[in-house]
Amino acid sequence: MTDNAQTIKGCIFNLDGVIVDTGRYHYQAWRRLANQFGFDYSREQNEELKGLSRLASLDKILDWGGIYMPEAEKMHWADVKNNWYVSLISNMKPGEILPGVLLFLREVRESGLRIALSSASQNARSVLSSTQIQSFFDVILDGNEVKKQKPDPLCFLMAAQELQLSPAECLVLEESPPGIDAALFGGFTVIGVGRQEDLSKAHWVIEGFENLHFHALLTQLATRVAI
Ligand code: BG6
Repeated sequence: MTDNAQTIKGCIFNLDGVIVDTGRYHYQAWRRLANQFGFDYSREQNEELKGLSRLASLDKILDWGGIYMPEAEKMHWADVKNNWYVSLISNMKPGEILPGVLLFLREVRESGLRIALSSASQNARSVLSSTQIQSFFDVILDGNEVKKQKPDPLCFLMAAQELQLSPAECLVLEESPPGIDAALFGGFTVIGVGRQEDLSKAHWVIEGFENLHFHALLTQLATRVAI
């Protein structure tokens, strides 16, 4: 174990886009709804929905379609989309865990760190269960328990508290710009998972976990931030 690894005592993983690519299922279900309203939107636009709550995503999509609707009707269509999404993720398999994630989680665990999953999604537990990955996490928090949306840091602060660690002792691994902001506001060290141009506020950005080793990541990170 390196000196750096002794400062960091826990890792908090986001789920969507970090551990599994659920973004494509969200896209399929939201797009089906948009199509039902008579318009379409692109995969690039869909990137803007990452990290947003279900209702905030619907607001943006309705905006793209130039559609106004009262709040009660929005709740109805958000439920319709969610039912489509739930049926898509119910068929997910362990093989859909993103490349390198399982090995990385094992390395974190073998280094003696505690691991939390903190997701804005109310469906996070179903995804964990269909991909059979729950057992890696000491703490699991989802959108049913955390009532404030990113960029509010509550989802990460609650996870750190349940891990019995301070934000300074935790690494957050996050794929969305509002999630990066949330982790920074909370005083965490944050690794962006995705494209450098989208996540440049993070302390370090990785494309994914393939061929990535936990201790190598900490060593690289230490060139940027005191950990
Ligand atoms: C986030 C996703 O993790 O969860 C968002 O990045 C999604 O795209 C949000 O809108 C809420 O998910 P759900 O499953 O509760 O609708």
